Amino acid sequence: MPLQTNFFVAEDLIVDNTLNKEDKYKLLLRQLQELTADENDMLANFANCIAAIKDSFSFLWVGVYFVKNNELVLGPFQGPVACTRIAKGQGVCGISFEKNDTIIVDNVDEFPGHIACSSLSKSEIVIPICNKNRVFAVLDVDSSELKHFDAMDKKYLEEIAQLMERKIN
Ligand code: SME
Repeated sequence: MPLQTNFFVAEDLIVDNTLNKEDKYKLLLRQLQELTADENDMLANFANCIAAIKDSFSFLWVGVYFVKNNELVLGPFQGPVACTRIAKGQGVCGISFEKNDTIIVDNVDEFPGHIACSSLSKSEIVIPICNKNRVFAVLDVDSSELKHFDAMDKKYLEEIAQLMERKIN
């Protein structure tokens, strides 16, 4: 096996649970930049970004839905099996797609129209991934804890979504 010259050694993700949340996101972003730097295949990059987010924070579910024929279709994900199609404007993902905006839901049971793929999901954040000024996909992150996501998660997950946008081809 060739020696790796970058700090991202082989396929090992470094997760340091002694760090605070912001530093964990910064460490994750640096590793995602390394991990995706030499790879052009969008699906391969999206799949690894999703796995790295899930492993770094032990979220319940992390994945993307791609916009296809004006609806959302399940793409790579980590976590329990999920619904395969979501109409524009339906559920948290469909509204994020429709509004082209990040949505944080503190308690999914109080969100009208939330699509419950897993009864374990309690809160979530959905971030649009855009290409040529149109929503191309949404990044959906679900937690088994209520009120898990705040402005800091939004800031860094949006940065990760922008990194993924740069990998669209
Ligand atoms: N929570 C989403 C549905 C997808 S699953 O959670 C994986 C929603 O209401 O849009």
